[in-house]
Amino acid sequence: MAKIKKIKGFSDLFPPESELYARMEDSARRVFSRYGCRELRLPLLERTELFARSIGDETDIVQKEMYTFPDRKGRSLTLRPEATAGVVRAYIEAQQYARENVGKYYTVGPMFRYERPQKGRTRQFHQVNVEVLGPESPMADAELIMMLVDYLRDLGLKDIQIELNSLGCSKCRPDFHAALSEFLHGLNAQELCQDCRERMDKNPLRVLDCKVDSCREVMRNAPRISDFLCAECREHFRAVKETLESAEIEFVLNPLLVRGLDYYQRTTFEVVSADIGAQASVAGGGRYDGLVKALGGPDISGLGFACGMERLAMLLGGDGDQTLDFYLAVLNEEAMSTALVLGQHLRGSGYRGEVAFEAASPRSQLRLANKLGAKTCLLIGLDEMQRGEVMVKDMETGVQRAVSQDDLEQAVGLKR
Ligand code: HAM
Repeated sequence: MAKIKKIKGFSDLFPPESELYARMEDSARRVFSRYGCRELRLPLLERTELFARSIGDETDIVQKEMYTFPDRKGRSLTLRPEATAGVVRAYIEAQQYARENVGKYYTVGPMFRYERPQKGRTRQFHQVNVEVLGPESPMADAELIMMLVDYLRDLGLKDIQIELNSLGCSKCRPDFHAALSEFLHGLNAQELCQDCRERMDKNPLRVLDCKVDSCREVMRNAPRISDFLCAECREHFRAVKETLESAEIEFVLNPLLVRGLDYYQRTTFEVVSADIGAQASVAGGGRYDGLVKALGGPDISGLGFACGMERLAMLLGGDGDQTLDFYLAVLNEEAMSTALVLGQHLRGSGYRGEVAFEAASPRSQLRLANKLGAKTCLLIGLDEMQRGEVMVKDMETGVQRAVSQDDLEQAVGLKR
C-alpha cells in the first residue's frame, strides 16, 4: 500500500521537539497572567471577509497566502493566517467592551499561510499571541513591549533586538502616502518589481514592506514616516520610547518597519535575531486603533503582538527535563500486576517513571533503563515478590540493594 504523507509545509512535532512547544506555552501562561492577561480560545476557521477587511486586500497575506475554500454551501472560509482579526471579531461579537475597560487576552495555536517553505517558514506555524483592547495610553504600548521582553527572558533568550517605529494615524498618514506616492512615481518603473508597480497606487505603504532586494534598495531613499507624524502621534511615540528607556529596555528605531498587515497605526515593533537565518523576525506587533471600528464594533483602541513559535524553538534548543525517576523492570510474568500497582503508587506521589509491559532478563531491562535515562532501575521478580521487596539499582553509581516495598518511595526519592 502506498504511504500517505503529510502536506508540504506542515510538520509533525514529536518529542523532544513537542516539549519545547509545551515549554513556550507554559512560560506564556505564567508570564502573561502576571499582567492580568487571560486565555482566549478561538476557531481556526473564519469567514474570508474578516481577513480581507482587517489584514487588508493588498497585503501578500490576503493576496497570495491564505488557505481559502468554499464550504458545502458555497460560503468562502479561510484558515486563520493570524490571530488578531479573530480576537477582535470575537471581542465585538461577545460585546466584551461593555464588561471591561481593558481586555487583555492571549491565544496560542496554529496559523496557516501558503508561503514558500524554508528554514523558519512553514505553512502551518504556531504563534503565541497577545491582544490588549481598550487603552489609548502610550503606557499600554510600553507595557506590551515589556511583557514581550519578560516572556522572551523567561524563556532564556538573550541575543535579541527590538526594532521600533511609528506609522502615524489616519490624520497624518495621508500626507505621508502622498509623499511616498510622489517618490514612487518619480522612479523609473523598472526599479520596482511587478507587484510593487501594481500596488503603489492602491497602497504605497506595502512597497516599503516588499521583500524583493531591488525594491528594498530603492526604498532606502524613500520619505520617512517619522518626518510626517502629527503632534499627537509624535507625543505618543515619545512617551513610548521614554518609558522603555526608563525600564532599561533597549531598542533601535527602524523607520522602514511597516509590518505586513494593514491594520497598524502608531507604534509598531519587531523582535529580530541574527541567529536564525533569513527569517529573522521572531515576534512582531503594534497598535491597531481603528480596527475594532472597521470590523463593526465601537471606536476602541487595540494593540498586540505575536511570537512565532517555530522561530523561538530554533533559538531555544535543549529538550527540557523529561528524565525518568524510575524504570520498573519485571523479571517474571507473575510479577506484572504487582509491578504496575507499585508504579502507580510512585506516580501518585509525583515520581515520573515507566513500568515494563513484558517480563525480560535483568540485563536487557537495565540496558533499556539506561537508554531511557532513568535515575533508578527497580527490578521485581518472583523472589522479590515473595519477600515483599524490590531490587533498587542506582543507575549512576551502579549500587544495587533490596528494599522493602513499603520503603520504595523513600529509595526512589533519594535520587531526585
Ligand atoms: P506577523 O508579523 O505576520 O504578525 O507574524 C508574527 C510572527 O509569526 C512573525 O514574527 C514570525 O515569527 C511568525 N511567522 C509568521 N509567518 C510565519 C511562517 N510562515 N512560518 C513561521 N513563522 C511565521 C502577526 O501575525 C500579527 N497578528 C501580530 C499582532 C498581534 N499584531 C498585533 N497583534
